[in-house]
Amino acid sequence: MTMEKIYAFIFVLNCFLNIYPGARAIGINYGLNGDDLPAPSDVISLLQSRNISKVRLFAPNTAVLTALKDSGIDVILGTENQNLRSFASDPSAATSWVNTNVVPYASSLNFEYIAVGNEVIPGDLAQYVPSAMQNIDAAILNAGFAIPVSHAVSMSVMGPSFPPSNGVFSTEATAIMTEILKFLSSKNSSLLVNAYTWFPRQSDPNNVQLEYALIDDAAKPVTDNSLTYQNLFDAMVDTVYAGIEKVGVSNVDIVVAETGWPTAGTTDATIENAQKFNSNLIKLLASGKGTPRKPGKVVEAYIFALFNENLKPEGVERNWGLFYPNMTEVYHVDF
Ligand SMILES: *[C@@H]1O[C@H](CO)[C@@H](O)[C@H](O)[C@H]1NC(C)=O
Ligand SMILES: *[C@@H]1O[C@H](CO)[C@@H](O)[C@H](O)[C@H]1NC(C)=O
Ligand SMILES: *[C@@H]1O[C@H](CO)[C@@H](O)[C@H](O)[C@H]1NC(C)=O
Repeated sequence: MTMEKIYAFIFVLNCFLNIYPGARAIGINYGLNGDDLPAPSDVISLLQSRNISKVRLFAPNTAVLTALKDSGIDVILGTENQNLRSFASDPSAATSWVNTNVVPYASSLNFEYIAVGNEVIPGDLAQYVPSAMQNIDAAILNAGFAIPVSHAVSMSVMGPSFPPSNGVFSTEATAIMTEILKFLSSKNSSLLVNAYTWFPRQSDPNNVQLEYALIDDAAKPVTDNSLTYQNLFDAMVDTVYAGIEKVGVSNVDIVVAETGWPTAGTTDATIENAQKFNSNLIKLLASGKGTPRKPGKVVEAYIFALFNENLKPEGVERNWGLFYPNMTEVYHVDF
């Protein structure tokens, strides 16, 4: 797409979003850690038949990207963490990645974000993220495209943060998060956040009600000064928003790049709970309510995951899919 076409497209998209605030807010993570997954073209047909209009890929895959061309499905494309160091130190490595994995597709599919790395903060690779993002961004611009660059963080970038208004980045993560957020702000990009309500429920079942984690109206609300939280999803998003504001950045939105609920392998991991969580999530976002801290601002969220993946570690890790590899539903969710 040319810049003009992209702006025209964004204008039309914005008009659409203003009329249907919850429309297009839901996507799905398409992981490929299975040896029995269906052909990409069958997967794209499945997504289309179920009105799923956004996918996130953890890494480029030629067959998948080719199948996505002209599908009308938006894509968040990840770069592998092992590349962060070379992207940061060598602009030509970033250019080469963009020329191979973005340029051949960018005229016929809408890349929503390029996610430069996943969940490396805090950690040894964190130091490379800002320069890697800058070099990928420059390579995309040089190729003549306008695609926002971001990075996906887990909730472990946060320090002790209860209630949500006390949200703050951890001491270890603050400097790097500030640098990343200033870059995202200068580029009108968003922060990608992997936010599973299931994790706090697992680690502290005495204090985190199951209903609160499942976005169930029956949950006892949690109050935070003048705000009332009816579910843990909103609370987690607002915790990160509070952290972003505390480092002096005001205009960076959050996109939830992963959320979901497992169906087997541990406590609370049932088909019934997973169906409740994902259905409630979709209803929450479609309501257009936004979060208590950001009323009316709809968070986009990508459910994890499309398929049960049999090459992941045994147990709960293999049981996050909405579909079995034969494309039968594990449980039904309306998109
Ligand atoms: C897809 O969306 C259209 C229009 O909103 C709707 O009529 C149709 O029932 C949906 N299909 C599925 C499978 O959800
Ligand atoms: C970000 O958005 C502002 C306001 O819409 C605009 O003036 C600015 O040019 C944008 N910056 C980039 C890098 O797109
Ligand atoms: C698909 O796979 C699931 C899980 O292995 C199985 O229970 C189901 O019967 C299969 N469906 C079809 C149509 O083969």
